[in-house]
Amino acid sequence: MSTVDQKVSVNPLHPEFLRQAYRPKEIILPTPEEVDRFAAETVIEQVIQKPNSYITFATGGTPIGMYQLLAEAHRNGLSFADVVAANLDEYWPIDTSHPASYAQFMRDTLFSHIDIDPRNCHIPHGDARNQYEEAAKYQNVLTQLGKPDLTILGLGPGETCHIAFNGPGTSIDSSVHYVELDEETIEANQRFFGPGESVPTGALTQGVANILNAQKIMMIVKGEGKAWGVNRSLRGPISEEAPASLLRFHPDVTVIMDEEEASMLS
Ligand code: F6R
Repeated sequence: MSTVDQKVSVNPLHPEFLRQAYRPKEIILPTPEEVDRFAAETVIEQVIQKPNSYITFATGGTPIGMYQLLAEAHRNGLSFADVVAANLDEYWPIDTSHPASYAQFMRDTLFSHIDIDPRNCHIPHGDARNQYEEAAKYQNVLTQLGKPDLTILGLGPGETCHIAFNGPGTSIDSSVHYVELDEETIEANQRFFGPGESVPTGALTQGVANILNAQKIMMIVKGEGKAWGVNRSLRGPISEEAPASLLRFHPDVTVIMDEEEASMLS
């Protein structure tokens, strides 16, 4: 349940910022493991209530524990056969069988452990010849799919406050697009690549408008170094300089975080 936040400061120069702002629901749990469990239970409940849910999935370190719990739920009888999945983003260029590609990540951490239909799993093609054409194609896919029932997000590292690969300065109106990755994100994602391998310099990402189009948004915050970003996003001015702060224009956002990440909340 969200309540109207009277205290948010908005940039009056941007007509979009005349929108109503809300206060996301904050769930603060003692440990990252409890965050995984709460997040997994949210997804499980969604799939039980609506077996053909359309869910937007995130990658990176944050959702791994939750995906393991979803795989466990499947082993215990939960079916994902009718779920439709679309991912937030993918590196470009990247071979889709590269272990760090998000296509491979999703197969390894979730899709190969549940009974989802691979034809219902959508992700930008990191091996497309032209990144701009691929962005337009993926936008078409999302338009056909309609409104996600649930969109799962992580929060970018350090001061990026990025959601998907929408870094500081991304327009609130943005749809799927190609983006050059910033240094902080490249550095943070180096851990998924082998020694001597470089992180691709670009990515295809859902835009902020795609994310705000969901019925419901769940942002999971765990992993080191997110405390400043959480506070900036939830308590700072709503602005395109902190893309996660734009989530406060959505009426149904839940942020699930561990105590360490919540430690700077003012
Ligand atoms: C990944 C994505 C990114 C990550 C964010 C946090 O699909 O969209 O926004 O959620 O970079 O990454 P981790 O979880 O590795 O800290």
